[in-house]
Amino acid sequence: MPDLRSIQNLALVGFMGCGKSTVGRTVAGELGFEFVDTDALVEAEAGIPVSEIFANAGEAAFRKLECEAIASLETRRDLVIATGGGAVTFPENLESLKRHALVVCLWAGAEALHDRTKHQTHRPLLQQENPLEVIRTLLVERAPHYKKADVIINTEQRPQRVVVAQVKHQFEESSGGGTSTDSAAAS
Ligand code: S3P
Repeated sequence: MPDLRSIQNLALVGFMGCGKSTVGRTVAGELGFEFVDTDALVEAEAGIPVSEIFANAGEAAFRKLECEAIASLETRRDLVIATGGGAVTFPENLESLKRHALVVCLWAGAEALHDRTKHQTHRPLLQQENPLEVIRTLLVERAPHYKKADVIINTEQRPQRVVVAQVKHQFEESSGGGTSTDSAAAS
């Protein structure tokens, strides 16, 4: 079946700590695209950090701003977009991204995600007594949503430059039509 989507942008989705921002910034530089982080758009709109939005107004208020930020990107082009880890668990956000972007999920297992995030303090959902348990639970809940991405790239035991090259390759392929799934995708 022909792919009738108009792919102007690249969107990275996946769990907190999977590498969306670092990979996204590098890919954007290599493609000559602008890098956009939806958390940064939300913070600019609210005028306070994500952690304060969660603390002052609650997660639902954050999700509303996140949804608006994602919708605001639909008319733009030549962007690499890093989304927050919970964004595509809301179907309207994934639908919005798919209207204009190739959606690539960066995958890693719970232990690797925990290793990558355990010294960071800016993510309200992981500021818990047992963040590994939280990651395991959320990952199980979120995996079905992440698997709706156009492409899933396993980031575990792959150097970041390899992940960057794969993301870029998938995007370039998609401009020529069609999408595919990485053979080492999440299982
Ligand atoms: C969240 C992930 C965060 C941020 C917020 C909620 C989530 O973004 O949007 O703290 O629900 O997974 P990163 O995935 O960039 O850390």
